[in-house]
Amino acid sequence: MCPTEDNFQQATDELYHSLLEGNKQFVKDTLDSDPQYFEKLAAGQSPPVLWIGCADSRVPANQITNMPPGEIFVHRNIANMVVHSDMNMLSVLDYAVNVLKVKHVVVTGHYGCGGVLAAMGNQQVGLIDNWLRHIKDVYRLHKEELDSIDDATERGNRFVELNVIESVYNLCKTSIVQNAWKNGQKLGVHGWVYSLKTGIITDMKVSAYDNENMDTVFKLK
Ligand code: CO
Repeated sequence: MCPTEDNFQQATDELYHSLLEGNKQFVKDTLDSDPQYFEKLAAGQSPPVLWIGCADSRVPANQITNMPPGEIFVHRNIANMVVHSDMNMLSVLDYAVNVLKVKHVVVTGHYGCGGVLAAMGNQQVGLIDNWLRHIKDVYRLHKEELDSIDDATERGNRFVELNVIESVYNLCKTSIVQNAWKNGQKLGVHGWVYSLKTGIITDMKVSAYDNENMDTVFKLK
């Protein structure tokens, strides 16, 4: 049976209002446990971490790391990409590194990422195809390894990991990160992958704290 238009409208209205009701509950619960909570948080932020993650609704930075509000500065886009000409990402990175003085930048991908899987295929989705093209560049760099994996799920998982690893490298190559290192700022850049099935984060072990291992052509003086 198809829902009538009125029923559909009623259901979406209820969902919409439930968000505002949820907020009221959040304020009540929070004040019950700490009456000064909002007062303290409103005084300012000094998060030690910048998170660059996927826009996927199932990968919320604070919840999956068990961190309270105020601890993680967040930038999310489809497929957690670091594109060196993306003004949005660069502005967030610049503010996080140079104003907030974060200690760590973490790129977090997730297995089963729709963006990465779409980039593996040839189906047009729309404008997003042009954004996902950057992931096809990751494929081009790792074609041999990816083509050698027969199982489609495993190949997709590895593609997710490589997309994170390349994003970490892209971050390190930015003038923002390199200047921070040059100026002696302690800054770690890391790559993680989250499993939607287990909730566990895997460290890709590509953490960088300087540009020593970077190809010469990318090093900025
Ligand atoms: Co995703």
